[in-house]
Amino acid sequence: METVVSGIRSTGKLHLGNYYGAVKNFVQMQNEYNCFFFIADLHSLTTHPTPGDLHGSVKQVLIEYLAAGIDPEKATIYVQSDVPEISELYLYLNMNAYMGELERSASFKDKVRSNPDNVNAGLLTYPVLMAADILIHKATKVPVGKDQEQHLEMSRTFGNRFNRLYNKEYFPEPFAFNFSNQLVKVPGLDGKGKMGKSEGEGNAVFLSDEPEVIRKKVMRAVTDSGPTKENEPKAEAVQNLFDLLKVVSSIDTYNHFDGLYNNCEIRYGDLKKQLAEDMIIATSPMREKINDLSKNSSFLRQVAKHGALKARESASSTLREVREIIGFRSF
Ligand code: TRP
Repeated sequence: METVVSGIRSTGKLHLGNYYGAVKNFVQMQNEYNCFFFIADLHSLTTHPTPGDLHGSVKQVLIEYLAAGIDPEKATIYVQSDVPEISELYLYLNMNAYMGELERSASFKDKVRSNPDNVNAGLLTYPVLMAADILIHKATKVPVGKDQEQHLEMSRTFGNRFNRLYNKEYFPEPFAFNFSNQLVKVPGLDGKGKMGKSEGEGNAVFLSDEPEVIRKKVMRAVTDSGPTKENEPKAEAVQNLFDLLKVVSSIDTYNHFDGLYNNCEIRYGDLKKQLAEDMIIATSPMREKINDLSKNSSFLRQVAKHGALKARESASSTLREVREIIGFRSF
């Protein structure tokens, strides 16, 4: 069985974009692959969270992974920092990662531009840590979005370089993996681009949002003044709402509003009401589970412990071999 690895940074609550773009796929994969899904808390240290915030967001992601349907009996769910083997492999891989290539990474350059006061070495070596996450389980399939393509390419580079250095075909090459073969596009509510938590509160609908909050956010979504001639192309903001309908509503609902748009009879208020109700239907079961799990510390503790144990089993067997290959040998 092939191995799948993916991680989500613990930087806040899951939104519909995370769910439909990633986590829903994970839930399907867990039945067919040897899956490792982890909470990337080490990666989140680049932005220096307070201890309380760090723990809170790790807990939040764990709860939401479970609420979304990841089954700890099928997949290995763990917290990255519970597996010290990852940090050790990261150290080894750092020796073969070159400044030049790390500095050329698009995400690093973005971070430097957006946060010139916090260009720390952890940010520079973020792709090395990500490579360690993947290579530690010798994974070949990594479900990630387009924005992670370059990181994944670097993971292949670091793995191959290790193999070449020690003249051993050890690490397999990991590739992006899209299980359902249909990339779900989940736009935000602010009229431009994809749903994201950094784009401001109103842009993203979270799995934990109460129905009233969802209604409010959707009603405030950006639109335009409406079509003026038949079959007019949709402006981005309007297209986004239709894309969201495609995600949470039935095809009949989508076709209904698409027809109204095309003969200029659409009332965006009606579309938004329907969209909000369908989002509520889609998220309610998860929200209820989130609320239940939040109160069940002993279950969470058990899941994290069990996941760490399984992840460490796989990680320590890789690390034992890596140490041997590098030449750390006992006397
Ligand atoms: N870099 C990923 C992101 O920003 C998170 C991540 C860290 C990850 N390590 C990983 C994803 C390993 C897949 C595999 O979303």
